[in-house]
Amino acid sequence: MNYRHSYHAGNHADVLKHALLRRLFELMQRKEAPLCYLDSHAGTAFYDLQGESAGKTGEFQDGIGRLWQRDDLPLWLGDFRAAVAAHNQGDSLRFYPGSPQFIADLLRPQDRMILSELHPEDADTLKQHFAYSDQVAVHQRDGYQLPKAFLPVAEKRALWLLDPPFEKTDDLQRCVSAVQIAIQRMRQTVIALWYPIKDQRLLREFYQQIADAGVPKALRVELNIRPVDNQLGLNGSGLILVNPPWPIWEELEQLLPWLASVLAQSGEGSYRLDWLAGEP
Ligand SMILES: C[S@@+](CC[C@H](N)C(=O)[O-])C[C@H]1O[C@@H](n2cnc3c(N)ncnc32)[C@H](O)[C@@H]1O
Repeated sequence: MNYRHSYHAGNHADVLKHALLRRLFELMQRKEAPLCYLDSHAGTAFYDLQGESAGKTGEFQDGIGRLWQRDDLPLWLGDFRAAVAAHNQGDSLRFYPGSPQFIADLLRPQDRMILSELHPEDADTLKQHFAYSDQVAVHQRDGYQLPKAFLPVAEKRALWLLDPPFEKTDDLQRCVSAVQIAIQRMRQTVIALWYPIKDQRLLREFYQQIADAGVPKALRVELNIRPVDNQLGLNGSGLILVNPPWPIWEELEQLLPWLASVLAQSGEGSYRLDWLAGEP
């Protein structure tokens, strides 16, 4: 396990993932009924952008850094930035929340979170960070096993963020299998599965597997900050949204062109928004 999210916190992929994650949870909170949030590869709750790791890559500067001072953020991107600002002082951008913190900030008394993180140090940090709350359970265990261990949840309503580091070549396939198990155990589970846009051949197989996975609905959301055939590494990122709440498609149709132009790093940015499974 070499991957440490602290090197990448707040980059373009985090902006897309976290802004969307918050929005999904908010839309699900339109109903009073309790919600369970599952984060299978949780990382830690906070990242110091002036720390050694983030300082080495500076990736956040082309992510949250590009949104920080703008006064034209469309739709719920303003709420996303405000959520980051709530953990900083004044205009300075120093701390960036991880996915568990973004959701912790939205929890109502009736909601709860189940987090898993395999890295011993990060799992420990998470445990200490959320020790104050009886709404948060932290497990040091394999995130891919989360659906088997916890679904169906008593609340019957769940949002699951599946966000592995993709260090191994079979990670995309493991994601598809885990998604299938989740849907078999609780068909209405809302899932946000994050993936890197790097190897187009692997991705084509992955799209087909999602389309064939037997999920009720699967929306593909992608944001490219460089041409997809660029050899520089992470050209963009995507999320497969299983059972996304309405009207996320309509909102993303407005947001993605804006994000693609503001976050582009070489040439023009681009995006993709379409259904891999189910009726729009
Ligand atoms: C992309 S990072 C998570 C970022 C976090 N979800 C966020 O958005 O702020 C992936 C995390 O998964 C952890 N990890 C790697 N393999 C794992 C596994 N099999 N089960 C659970 N966590 C794992 C890594 O230590 C890393 O912290």
